[in-house]
Amino acid sequence: MSQIKDPSLAEKGKMSYEWARDHMKILTNTIERLKKSRPLQGLRLGICLHITKETSVLIMGARQLGADVSACAANPLSTQDDIAAFLAESGVHIYAWEGQTLEEYDWCIEQMLNHKPHILTDDGSDSHSKVHGNSKFSSLKILGGTEETTTGVIRLKALEKQKKLKYPVIAVNDAYTKHMFDNRYGTGQSTIDGYLRSMNLLFAGKRVVIAGYGWVGRGVTARCNGLGAKVYVTEIDPVRALEAHMDGYEVLPMDEAAKIGDIFITATGQTGVIRKEHIIKMKNGVVLGNVGHFDVEVDAKYLLNESKSVREVRPNLDECLLNNGKRVYLIGKGRIANLVAAEGHPPEVMAQSFSNQLLSMIYLAKNHKRIGKKVITVPPEIDKQIAIDALKAMDVRIDKPTAAQIKYSQSWA
Ligand SMILES: NC(=O)c1ccc[n+]([C@@H]2O[C@H](COP(=O)([O-])OP(=O)(O)OC[C@H]3O[C@@H](n4cnc5c(N)ncnc54)[C@H](O)[C@@H]3O)[C@@H](O)[C@H]2O)c1
Repeated sequence: MSQIKDPSLAEKGKMSYEWARDHMKILTNTIERLKKSRPLQGLRLGICLHITKETSVLIMGARQLGADVSACAANPLSTQDDIAAFLAESGVHIYAWEGQTLEEYDWCIEQMLNHKPHILTDDGSDSHSKVHGNSKFSSLKILGGTEETTTGVIRLKALEKQKKLKYPVIAVNDAYTKHMFDNRYGTGQSTIDGYLRSMNLLFAGKRVVIAGYGWVGRGVTARCNGLGAKVYVTEIDPVRALEAHMDGYEVLPMDEAAKIGDIFITATGQTGVIRKEHIIKMKNGVVLGNVGHFDVEVDAKYLLNESKSVREVRPNLDECLLNNGKRVYLIGKGRIANLVAAEGHPPEVMAQSFSNQLLSMIYLAKNHKRIGKKVITVPPEIDKQIAIDALKAMDVRIDKPTAAQIKYSQSWA
């Protein structure tokens, strides 16, 4: 059972899957290593992730390890329809297409949950949230869950704090080998990709304002700087603001940055970062977009509903004519620009994130009773194993400490 846009795209999707698979050595080596023991045999896996070519490699890998997979998208605009068609043809129960309404998005999550997953993997926690908030799903026997991104982990920790969490969750985002690479290098590159595909303007010489100097913000900042932009950073955390200042960027409040910037990129995970009061101060022709998980960072509602006119001048780029006569351009309706306007992270990065996902699912299958109803980080031995696998896949060798060095590092004297 599946619901997708166009089954005839399956062949194209298969090629795209193969391209990603061939560039995801860390993940495919892990699958090869575990294939014989089939550690997910007999388990139903529920996936609520962006349905991209990289995610298809994770899904097909989990099936090779024995899982029966049902899947839906983690965002109404992030599905690659050819991949959805390929997965449906391969026997995955998939409910996803690009350009869903919010009602359709919600319906797809419910269809995925109707397959009664034992393990639930999410990106942003919309499916975890539904399991906890909707009585229709209160009888599900979920052994454990995983969560891919910062925003989702924050939501799950709030549930844990209120003692409402129903099953153990591994915060995959919090593994070093996830956030230090995926959030920084993956989003760093794919954000530029999304902005370029939608606006195709020069970064060099532009004043680019980046809101948030966290893992994502630092990655995006470094890439914009590398392209020759003049980079400005806004923050609310004094330590992160200090770091941005010491890294050589101009740090200032959004109220001031609004008047200066040519291009704006939000990466905070917070709501209301660029508001109407900022937008009306902006220069004519500015480009706004967001790469935080939810579409709450830029006031897209104001831009799309209260402008004099709105027209899509290029794919994923809306021109909003404000009442003050200025034109403001919005990428992907304020949704996660690197996925809506581009294809998300490159496969090499997702190989690392999804190895964390796969090993966390297996860990949950074995250890869910012992963990209890808690949000835990990826066990350090998994994090370390992935770093070892990643170095091997990239053909990078490192030194081993000598006996004298081990002794020296263990000595108090
Ligand atoms: N686009 C992607 O592919 C992708 C990938 C990974 C994470 N994410 C999402 O990106 C967001 C950020 O993730 P992260 O890992 O960098 O989180 P993080 O916690 O490391 O960084 C967020 C930063 O934003 C700052 N911030 C919060 N509110 C702010 C405000 N009003 N103005 C300015 N700065 C503010 C925080 O102080 C913090 O430094 C989350 O929503 C996460 O889920 C997106």
